[in-house]
Amino acid sequence: MFIDTHCHLSKDDYDDIEQVLEDNRKVGVSPIIISGCTRESILESLEYGKMYSDVFVTTGYHPSEASITTEEDLKLLEDQLQLKFVIGVGEIGLDYHYGKEDKEKQIILFEKQLALAEKYQLPVVIHSRDATLDTISILKKYSVTGVIHCFSGSYETALEYIKMGFILGIGGVVTFKNSKLGDVVSKIPIEKIVLETDSPYLTPTPYRGEVNSSKYIPLIAEKIASCKEISIEEVARITTDNAKRIFHLD
Ligand code: NI
Repeated sequence: MFIDTHCHLSKDDYDDIEQVLEDNRKVGVSPIIISGCTRESILESLEYGKMYSDVFVTTGYHPSEASITTEEDLKLLEDQLQLKFVIGVGEIGLDYHYGKEDKEKQIILFEKQLALAEKYQLPVVIHSRDATLDTISILKKYSVTGVIHCFSGSYETALEYIKMGFILGIGGVVTFKNSKLGDVVSKIPIEKIVLETDSPYLTPTPYRGEVNSSKYIPLIAEKIASCKEISIEEVARITTDNAKRIFHLD
């Protein structure tokens, strides 16, 4: 059994959600955790969380939403966080990849959502792109833990996050031919890793270029198993335990 701790499931990318979930279950990927991170995707995710017992949801506004997210949106988010199948806040964070023009707004939005996570003692799912230093210094101001989504940083950065109580979300990037992530994965404890696809993005090798799906989680697990020289069953068991622990799934 595997858990995909981070995916985006939208009708825009998948015609038949029911079929997607069925395909996942066939290869042992269940439950999945959908990240709703825009107004529209949050509503869609909540719909699926309500409908399927093996779908959990995290909700939170992505840094790309920083300039349009209102106080009202945040009030709504606070209400959504009370739902039983909403198990965390995210993905939230900082993204300086396309520039820093709205940096201040991103930081404000990030901090408001970290405060909510702290208030309700929910794990956070962190998006950090080209913003490691700010992300770390802001996270240190709050009493929160959670997942560093799509981690692809250095070994030193991995250790820093682990020291802060975070766990690393490892996805398709680890299977990419020129990725150095495998080296980092081989050095960090498997107890600090959860599996994720971030589908429809970041499709693992050998399906790069196609739409990603949670059914490819075993490919990621296989690569991690080879990096760590353990069996795929062990990767499945330990990463599933890790996910259950961090998201309080039991
Ligand atoms: Ni994502």
